[in-house]
Amino acid sequence: MADDLNDVTDDETNESSEAQIAVHWREEDYYEPPAALAAQANASDPAIRDQFTEDKFPDCFTAYADLLTWYKPWDTVLDTSKAPFWKWFVGGELNASYNCVDRHMQTHPNKAALIWIPEPETEAHQAITYRELYVRVNEFAAVLKDLGLKAGDRITFHMPMVPELPVAMLAAARLGVIHSQVFAGFSGTAAGHRIADSGSTVLVTMDGYYRSGDLLDHKVKADEAVEAAAREGQHVDKVLVFRRYPGQYSAKTPMVEGRDVFVDDLLAAHKGEIVEPTRLSATDPLFLMYTSGTTGRPKGCQHSIGGYLSYVAGTSKYYQDIHPDDTYWCMADIGWITGHSYIVYGPLALGTTSVMYEGTPNYPDAGRPWRIAQQLGVNIFHTSPTAIRMLRKVGPDEPAKYDYHFKTMTTVGEPIEPEVWRWYYKTVGKGEAAITDTWWQTETGGFLGSTLPGIDKMKPGSCGPAALGIYPVILDEDANEVPAGSGKAGNICIRAPWPGVFQTIWGQPERFVSTYYAKYNKDPESKDWHDWPYFAGDGALEAADGYFRILGRVDDVINVAGHRLGTKELESAALTVDEVAEAAAVPVVDDIRGRVVEMYISLKPGVEPSADVENKVKVAIETDIGKIARPKNIWIVPDMPKTRSGKIMRRVIAATSNFTDTGDITTLANPEVVEKIREQVQSAKRAKGEVPRELSETEEHEIKSFGQE
Ligand code: WTA
Repeated sequence: MADDLNDVTDDETNESSEAQIAVHWREEDYYEPPAALAAQANASDPAIRDQFTEDKFPDCFTAYADLLTWYKPWDTVLDTSKAPFWKWFVGGELNASYNCVDRHMQTHPNKAALIWIPEPETEAHQAITYRELYVRVNEFAAVLKDLGLKAGDRITFHMPMVPELPVAMLAAARLGVIHSQVFAGFSGTAAGHRIADSGSTVLVTMDGYYRSGDLLDHKVKADEAVEAAAREGQHVDKVLVFRRYPGQYSAKTPMVEGRDVFVDDLLAAHKGEIVEPTRLSATDPLFLMYTSGTTGRPKGCQHSIGGYLSYVAGTSKYYQDIHPDDTYWCMADIGWITGHSYIVYGPLALGTTSVMYEGTPNYPDAGRPWRIAQQLGVNIFHTSPTAIRMLRKVGPDEPAKYDYHFKTMTTVGEPIEPEVWRWYYKTVGKGEAAITDTWWQTETGGFLGSTLPGIDKMKPGSCGPAALGIYPVILDEDANEVPAGSGKAGNICIRAPWPGVFQTIWGQPERFVSTYYAKYNKDPESKDWHDWPYFAGDGALEAADGYFRILGRVDDVINVAGHRLGTKELESAALTVDEVAEAAAVPVVDDIRGRVVEMYISLKPGVEPSADVENKVKVAIETDIGKIARPKNIWIVPDMPKTRSGKIMRRVIAATSNFTDTGDITTLANPEVVEKIREQVQSAKRAKGEVPRELSETEEHEIKSFGQE
């Protein structure tokens, strides 16, 4: 018994010391912000930082709240009495839909709120003015109200990138109905799990949408979602189906009598109806956004109305540098937090024109984004490293062919390699635009680390300094501060709360505390925020200049093309296949998608490896999660490398798949299997031409520490 315990401790000490090895990180050169941008920027004077120093916390954030219109101002800026369930702007009352729609409809009704670009180039774009948005939001709010939905109820959307999605979000927000939008690329089953978790009785979907030239049948996923939710005991009463072409049905899946209704039919009964926005408390929830974590059950991150909306409005103003006449395009999907914060809520709260695009960036060719930018006069552009890497690969010279001019460009969601950054800067930005590399998370609502585009020098590969009012610290496993510039990586934490931080995990308050706050809290009774650093789950280091370099997740999460996939979710899906005994998912460095998943499985006794089993695993993952999670390779191995306590050593198989050093394996229960797996996997990968390039120091760090938690 004592022996066993010793073994466990040995394994763990060994892993964490390895993760903490100091590395000599190469520094990149700085780039100055373009002078023309600096001259007009919303944040043009470095003294803005003085307004957000720690001695001014938390009142500094009222500058963000003041960007909104309140029915009733708050009494308390920050209430910490239920730490770490922070409450912002307590006593304040407002409505998000009013702030994003009505007040702009009053001042500039004919300005475009949204410009929607359908994927087929033969279809004209649609400009939706604030006046028209007001009408559509009210009519859809009337539909929801008619279904009996009211403040505090939940509603699930499984919608593609069409204007009906922001309309639906703002209609729900008008009533105080908590919306949960599930990324359209997720499977019906994944949507079903989220419907069940949130307790939604209404699902809003669409018959079809375009992706890479195909009009996909999306309605079929609604049927799967309703079934999956029912298996978890959640009954869906109504499925509201928007039609991609109103009046004509674009899906093959039949409508279910009594349950499924076409939204365009329902809207006809509510023409011109006005629904007064509900006066809601600042601390009421606005929406849930599900994300993956270390267990199979996804986390419904609950965001507040007052704090969240203030934070995304403030950061849109200073970091996206949005001015009234700008045309802003964020090419993310509203199914993710980026789209919520920086396509819908932030830009519309500021009364911006926000561009939305239905399809894939390289459809029908790699010039598409730049044609859209030229056609609409987009001057602020926002996308992910994966999209940039892809456009660079398939159309490195395309941007030069188009006449557009960006003043700022954002990247979000994953680390961007310095070479890719430089292409973005020189070729896409034509050397005229500032780049903001924004580091943040679903949980954080808005940016945590970024340069201010008109003030700060840029450094490729680093997100830059902390955002205004954000006080990060890097801690080691023993809660000691890792000194800036020491070359040592640690866990990045945020010391003080900020208005955009999520309020809780829907239905799992203990998990909220244990995942994000317990690690570095020494006194669970404390009401002082100083005792509750927010643990972001990312490795990072701070250079001597105060710029942060984000090294990736320290938990079992794989970031594929900017989308977080939990290894447990992937593995549970694989384990639904009868023949599978054990499954382990690991990240593999990929030149376009950042990381892709490789799945290792071992089979039950007596089962022979076969293409059939492999295929079953693939289908199980696509069904349970969606095509984005499809593993690049599935390796059926004789056994998994394990610690003596029986834990699968994911870092060892991750090293194998990435052709890097497996590190110390002497503590394994079965070290001999490592060589066998290496031989099997690496020779197969060589034969397929999948030997990766040499990894960067950041990538190497991530692979070495994968699964350490
Ligand atoms: C990673 C996306 C490096 C990080 C807004 C984080 C980044 C996770 C960056 C959150 C960045 C996000 N540089 N890594 N600029 N931005 N990440 O919840 O690991 O989808 O924890 O939110 O993406 O992903 P999420």
